[in-house]
Amino acid sequence: MGHVTDTPTTAPKSSADVRDSAFLRACRRESVPHTPVWFMRQAGRSLPEYRKVREGVAMLDSCMMPDLITEITLQPVRRHKVDAAIFFSDIVVPLKAIGVDLDIKPGVGPVVAQPIRGADDLAQLRDLTPDDVPYVAEAVRQLTGELGGTPLIGFAGAPFTLASYLVEGGPSKNHEFTKAMMYGEPELWAALLDRLADITSQFLAVQIEAGASAIQLFDSWAGALSAEDYRASVMPASAKVLASVAGHGIPRIHFGVGTGELLGLMGEAGADVVGVDWRVPLDEAARRVGPGRAVQGNLDPAMLFTPYETMVAKAGQVLAEGRAAEGHVFNLGHGVLPNTDPGRLTALVEYVHEASAR
Ligand code: CP3
Repeated sequence: MGHVTDTPTTAPKSSADVRDSAFLRACRRESVPHTPVWFMRQAGRSLPEYRKVREGVAMLDSCMMPDLITEITLQPVRRHKVDAAIFFSDIVVPLKAIGVDLDIKPGVGPVVAQPIRGADDLAQLRDLTPDDVPYVAEAVRQLTGELGGTPLIGFAGAPFTLASYLVEGGPSKNHEFTKAMMYGEPELWAALLDRLADITSQFLAVQIEAGASAIQLFDSWAGALSAEDYRASVMPASAKVLASVAGHGIPRIHFGVGTGELLGLMGEAGADVVGVDWRVPLDEAARRVGPGRAVQGNLDPAMLFTPYETMVAKAGQVLAEGRAAEGHVFNLGHGVLPNTDPGRLTALVEYVHEASAR
């Protein structure tokens, strides 16, 4: 006695509820009660409760603390009532876990001590085993218990985006050392991407086996590539990752920024859902992605800073264009910007739910 809780977000529900959630139904291109919505970077600096629990804890350290991961992942679900949670971690966590000397510098991003430039540097990249990331499996297990009927999205960085950080040594606008290796040392490049494909597959497997309901592969910087280069030099590695998780029978979302010319190929690589930034309207994106796949997106994150009426008019347009697709998951075209008013995000979720109610 005395253990009865009436907090709805923590009421245990069966996995059948998760399977039947609006988010997973939309990913499978089934009918939905409303268009599901979640936001990339929904956990993070836009939330005061996030800044509070992160005080004095370095970013990469926070990614290794299961209780903190669980709390941060749940914060936006509690506050905004989004239709899915995204696991709190970072794309460089598996690299750190296998011993790559790197850090995430506030306001900068991932910085690598010894950039990968030659064949000898590949020795930094060994296989990842579940024992390298026990805190990930533990946090996923806690979360699937706490989330009830809300699905948890696991994620990883795609080989190209990870390679860019490793080769450049940090964030890059032009990716010049990365492209120099791609063109100048194609065998080394292929070996690097293949190593990263394995590590990414292993990191996703840990999350899926612990209970994640979907995965998103972030190829954030793939938009720097022409379609020809993407197809020849990058797509095989991403396809290897997506194929490695196919057997689990959970939706695979494939996302990048500035990828209007790559949307068809990103679907072809093996995605069930293709993420779209704000540059291509979703009806056109659905045409480029072709039949048999859903789309995710695509409100410009800057629209959260415009007057409310402007924001919801634009969100309504996204919903209307999304109806051309076989399935639509509402999201922003990229992550929530740090200065976003969290009240606006909550209002946007409410609007999407009400405006799309069937
Ligand atoms: O809410 C979520 O989306 C889940 C958590 C998440 C983080 N990083 C937490 C984080 C996810 C999915 C990522 C993925 C990630 N990390 C990507 C792909 C997504 C994208 O934005 O395109 C990339 C490119 C990274 C690399 C990275 N990590 C960058 C560029 C930065 C920003 C650096 C800065 O301070 O401006 C990070 C740090 C990071 N990862 C933060 C968070 C919440 C901010 C650090 C902090 O709060 O102290």
